[in-house]
Amino acid sequence: MVSVAIVGAAGYAGAELTRLVLGHPLMELAMVTSSADAGRRVSQLYPALAGCDLVYVPHDAARVSQVAQVAFLAVPHTAAMAIAPGLLEAGLTVIDASADFRLRDPGVFSAWYGTEHACPDLLCDAVYGLPELWRDAIPKARLVACPGCYPTATLLAAAPAIEAGIVTSGHVIVDAKSGVSGAGRTPTSGTHFVAAAESVTAYKVGAHRHTPEIAQGLEDLGLTDVRVTFSPHLVPMSRGLLSTVYLDIVAGMPVEDAHAVYAEYYADELFVTVHPPGVMPSTSEVRGSNRAHIGVTVDGAGTLVVSAAIDNLVKGTAGQAIQCANLALGYEETTGLDRPAPVF
Ligand SMILES: NC(=O)c1ccc[n+]([C@@H]2O[C@H](COP(=O)([O-])OP(=O)(O)OC[C@H]3O[C@@H](n4cnc5c(N)ncnc54)[C@H](OP(=O)(O)O)[C@@H]3O)[C@@H](O)[C@H]2O)c1
Repeated sequence: MVSVAIVGAAGYAGAELTRLVLGHPLMELAMVTSSADAGRRVSQLYPALAGCDLVYVPHDAARVSQVAQVAFLAVPHTAAMAIAPGLLEAGLTVIDASADFRLRDPGVFSAWYGTEHACPDLLCDAVYGLPELWRDAIPKARLVACPGCYPTATLLAAAPAIEAGIVTSGHVIVDAKSGVSGAGRTPTSGTHFVAAAESVTAYKVGAHRHTPEIAQGLEDLGLTDVRVTFSPHLVPMSRGLLSTVYLDIVAGMPVEDAHAVYAEYYADELFVTVHPPGVMPSTSEVRGSNRAHIGVTVDGAGTLVVSAAIDNLVKGTAGQAIQCANLALGYEETTGLDRPAPVF
């Protein structure tokens, strides 16, 4: 049994982490932090978590390190890099959901996030936590950078073809859709109900901060001359993310052969399902679960089209964070994550 603190527990990712930690047989939730909701019980703020009478306490890294062995950081970028060094120094394992430790190059971080990195020395210690692609790096890691939700789905969709050597161009087109919870708990003029309902919008095309993270991942997979065209969309659903990736592949490859590459690559992965050739996944299939469902086809232009569906709050954040913590702690990777998702 390991004692766990969730920093930023009242936000959307933190609430989902709270749900998953409460159901984890080897984790004990010792502390939940929130400044805005300090003094309230978890079950008051989130009645769906009835029975959890822990009270949110203000953010205080020193108190976290007194009660917890593992800290999940569900805080915005720049907040995590202010908190993580102290927790690591105090001996905790830190699983960070933010973007602060995902990019290895501090220059790329400052170019995209508009600020210098506060602890660039830690960037080479941080492990990128996408187990299906880089599992071997995670056991015994002290600092895990959980991937962004768009990079998770996109890299899972692209990896098998790249590693099989069937991709012929470094230009990768990513057309992706996210539910509104991806933007966090605080509503904005673009995410409140009236703006988001009954409408679909592409946003931050060419400028979304997940672009360099996707590029870094594609390079790590072995793709050269990487150029990413990324158009994210906000769609009117509370949770779920679909990333459709377009890749140039060797001419004339039949869909059955491309599909076989994916089926073999993910054959032993418990959280990944590859649908039959030409069958595309939907976000409703993975809602509330740590699963990624993948569909593969080859269109009339000879382009490989791969869709990956995940739940942005589970495989895209909190579930993947638990999966990484399980690996880092030496637990069975699926512990606390292996229940079937709701069917509807
Ligand atoms: N939402 C997603 O689908 C998703 C997916 C992948 C990754 N992520 C990442 O996960 C992190 C949390 O996202 P979210 O969607 O849960 O955001 P959110 O709903 O806005 O929640 C953010 C939480 O962080 C806390 N916080 C803000 N500034 C802080 C500071 N300086 N120190 C300590 N805590 C602070 C807030 O505390 P108060 O309670 O006091 O306001 C709040 O509880 C972000 O880095 C995000 O990029 C989110």
